[in-house]
Order: sequence, then C-alpha cells, then structure tokens
Amino acid sequence: MNQLKHIAIIMDGNGRWANLRNKKRIFGHKNGAETVRNITIHSSDIGLSYLTLYAFSTENWKRPKIEINFLTKLLDEYLKKELETYLKHNVKFNIIGDISKFNHSLQKRITQTIEKTAHCTGLTQTLAINYGSKDELTRAVNKILKKEHKNEITQETIENYLDTKNIPPVDMLIRTGGEKRLSNFLLWQSAYSELFFTNTLWPDFTNIEFDKMIKKFKVIHRKFGAV
Ligand code: FPP
Repeated sequence: MNQLKHIAIIMDGNGRWANLRNKKRIFGHKNGAETVRNITIHSSDIGLSYLTLYAFSTENWKRPKIEINFLTKLLDEYLKKELETYLKHNVKFNIIGDISKFNHSLQKRITQTIEKTAHCTGLTQTLAINYGSKDELTRAVNKILKKEHKNEITQETIENYLDTKNIPPVDMLIRTGGEKRLSNFLLWQSAYSELFFTNTLWPDFTNIEFDKMIKKFKVIHRKFGAV
C-alpha cells in the first residue's frame, strides 16, 4: 500500500455549477468554499498530513474585477469564520504564492491565521493564492541569484527556495470539473504524483468521491522511474 502524505487539488467548476442553476459565478465560489471546509475537515479526520488547494492563480487576475473582488472577500471571510475550525481540528494554515498583490487587510488576515494556527500539529492546509508554478520558480531563481554565490546549484537548493520548501512532494493531484490539465499548479512538486481527474464540479465534490480516489491511489504501483 502506498504511503499518502500530500494531496493537492485543482478546485475547478464553480462557475459552471452556478450557471447550471441560472445563478452568477460567485454563487458557485460561495458553495465551493463549503466544499473546501468539508474536504479539509475530512482530510484531518483521516490523518492526512498535507492538503494543498489551488484557490487563486497568477492567471486569475484576468477575470472580471467583480469576480476577483468577490474571491478575495470570500477568502477573507472564510479565514475569519473558519479560524475556529482550524483550531478545533488541529489544522495548521499555510499559503503558497505571492500575497503582496492582495489588499492589506487580506494580507493581515492571512498572516494572523498563519500565526494563530502555527502550534497546530495535525493537517497542514496550504492555500495556493496568487500562485503559479512559473512565478514560483522565477521568484526562487531570483532569490538564489541574490543569496547563493555558487557556480552551480542542485535540485535541493531549488527546492529550498520554492514556496513549498517545508512540504513533501505531491502524492496525489486531483482536478475536478472535467478538464485534464495542470494549469501552472505545482509543476515541480508533482513530478511523480498520481493524477486523478473527475467530471464532478467542485461544489459537488464529496468526501465519498475523495475516499474512492484515495483507495485507488493506495494500490497503484508507484515506480518513480525505477522498475
Ligand atoms: C475554479 O472554478 C475555481 C477558482 C478559480 C476559485 C477557487 C475558489 C474556491 C473553491 C472558493 C473559495 C476558496 C476558499 C479557500 C475560501 P471556475 O470558476 O474556473 O469554474 P468554471 O471552470 O466552471 O468556470
């Protein structure tokens, strides 16, 4: 049976979920936030160590301003409301991505949530916000140029400068919403992850479907390039 430490999810399909109900896209995001809560609590209950969720990509700034504003406000409200849940379930909150682009109150909320949950020892829930792998790698290379005075660098050095430096590689990468692409998410970290795609739209994604994927993952023969 495969060891499972880290699951990463591309939470796609909120907009379509809302459209199917003749509602605005933001209604889908609001319901998507409920799924975030359910999957996080469930991951904690089953003893998972790391759950990383793609909440806002570096490319999502191309969306209408009204949707961007709604998503940032939703995130702020979510962190405010769910602090209690993080603490109750011993979940450590973490982020990857460049948060300097967000408004100051959201940045403050993020920093405070990280601080207030820093003592938690169960699941680490990482939200990828204003995150993109190409941006992360570019920021890492620039930091390396400034700090490391070497002619050659190793893979370990690069890993130490990525946003995920304290997080193990992704074992399972799930994408909901029917598309089969990685959309600039954890490209380095998922080099050997097992990929799971489902047509289920994110607000409809359940703990039951999540458990079924985990069951499948456990019996996959993972070779990591060996035989
Ligand atoms: C993709 O669906 C989803 C996003 C870009 C945002 C993800 C946000 C949430 C799940 C809710 C808020 C999160 C937190 C942590 C509170 P889409 O809008 O691209 O859907 P579509 O492909 O159907 O248009």
